[in-house]
Amino acid sequence: MGRFEGKVCIVTGGASGIGAKTAEMFVEQGGCVVVTDVNDAAGEKLVGDIGASKAAYLHLDVTDPDACQAGVDLAVEKFGSVDYLLNSAVKMAPGMLKDLSLADWNTMVNIGLTGSFLMTQAVGNWLIENERPGSVVMMSSIGGRQPYGMSGAYSTVKAAVKMLADHFGIEWGGYNIRVNSIVAGHIETPLTAYLKDPEIKRGRSEVTPLGRVGQPVDIANAVLFLFSDEADYVTATALNVDGGITRSVMNHMPGRKWS
Ligand SMILES: NC(=O)c1ccc[n+]([C@@H]2O[C@H](COP(=O)([O-])OP(=O)(O)OC[C@H]3O[C@@H](n4cnc5c(N)ncnc54)[C@H](O)[C@@H]3O)[C@@H](O)[C@H]2O)c1
Repeated sequence: MGRFEGKVCIVTGGASGIGAKTAEMFVEQGGCVVVTDVNDAAGEKLVGDIGASKAAYLHLDVTDPDACQAGVDLAVEKFGSVDYLLNSAVKMAPGMLKDLSLADWNTMVNIGLTGSFLMTQAVGNWLIENERPGSVVMMSSIGGRQPYGMSGAYSTVKAAVKMLADHFGIEWGGYNIRVNSIVAGHIETPLTAYLKDPEIKRGRSEVTPLGRVGQPVDIANAVLFLFSDEADYVTATALNVDGGITRSVMNHMPGRKWS
């Protein structure tokens, strides 16, 4: 029996990358998943591959509060509850801050930050009303720990998402709803298609203490840990899943080495 038997998870941005891998693995480990995204073709294909008895797809733009509520309603209607949420949706709008348009700023903030707020609120309020425990994971990034030049609002959003998880976590402890974030390193997904360039991939692997870029499974394993009862005493916490890169700045200082 899998550890998520009888449990239900919603994944935003679930048609691709980290969200898609988490959806697949959640079902492999016994649960049912509502995959939500704005990329309907990819979402429907994923749900077809997973199998309609354990997975459902819903077009859900996280910037729309009614759509977020519809995601909760579908999970409850089709699978009987919602226990877990992964906020994975993202849309990049890169550029130097000095030149960034308000529209591009708002795109990132609305999808990455406000969308995480709206979806967490919808799931959490259902859990509270139904007096059920739950666990929510938000996707932060090493780009939210260090300013990621030319990424537009990305670093600001990812820093704020970590705080949003911390904040929900302390407010919902009394309801036994845990909220955490993952600070992901370089992970090979459609978002980071530049990692298909062998030179870029080799360079990023070399500056990572564990010697490789990450794969979606590395993050999905961490998400599922934070969902699970094994993380029963973990809330309002940011978990680095980055191959050690966040702590490695002193590795890259030119000059004398301690030999
Ligand atoms: N890949 C990495 O290296 C990396 C590193 C750190 C953090 N992250 C974070 O992990 C999360 C997932 O990233 P990924 O690499 O899997 O990205 P991805 O591009 O593979 O998937 C993102 C998904 O979000 C969907 N999306 C876009 N706008 C949406 C909207 N308005 N509503 C709902 N869904 C929408 C896209 O259609 C896509 O399917 C993101 O929050 C990202 O910031 C990724």
